[in-house]
Amino acid sequence: MDYKNYIKIVEDWPKEGIQFKDITPLMDNGKAFKAAVDEIVAFADEKDIDLVVGPEARGFIIGCPVSYALEVGFAPVRKEGKLPREVIKVDYGLEYGKNVLTIHKDAIKPGQRVLITDDLLATGGTIEATIQLVEALGGIVVGCAFLVELSYLNGSDNLEGYDVLTLTSF
Ligand code: PRP
Repeated sequence: MDYKNYIKIVEDWPKEGIQFKDITPLMDNGKAFKAAVDEIVAFADEKDIDLVVGPEARGFIIGCPVSYALEVGFAPVRKEGKLPREVIKVDYGLEYGKNVLTIHKDAIKPGQRVLITDDLLATGGTIEATIQLVEALGGIVVGCAFLVELSYLNGSDNLEGYDVLTLTSF
């Protein structure tokens, strides 16, 4: 399926000069959304995954149906101040700003095999920070799956050595 048909480009949002890739038309279309989730599930299927991890907020939209299909848990990575119990945290840069990501200290058991999901790979700051959190807790990142990659931002340079799936790229 050509997922590009379901992604709308929004000029100058959330800041001037940014071409935002809006995935909500894909989510609006049940068949396209299911096809995307199914492709990620197929990618994950042979990997013996214990847990799916996704960063706020759009990583949840992709990661939760994948975890449901794989019958494994989902652990959220959230921006600072959102998770209620003890967390570890990491600073990261993103395409249009800076932020802090956190995960509950007990979200991952050492040795668990983790699939990370997000809607979009841009500079790679978010995925890099998420990988750092997972690995700091002893998780093994066995795959990273994205709907969209902005290849001109070279985010995949941060993912050398990891098994990466992207369903479409700009
Ligand atoms: C967006 C997107 C990815 C990240 C990609 O999330 O959903 O998580 O940026 O950018 P990067 O590769 O340059 O890090 P955002 O931080 O805007 O959060 P949101 O999903 O809560 O809007």
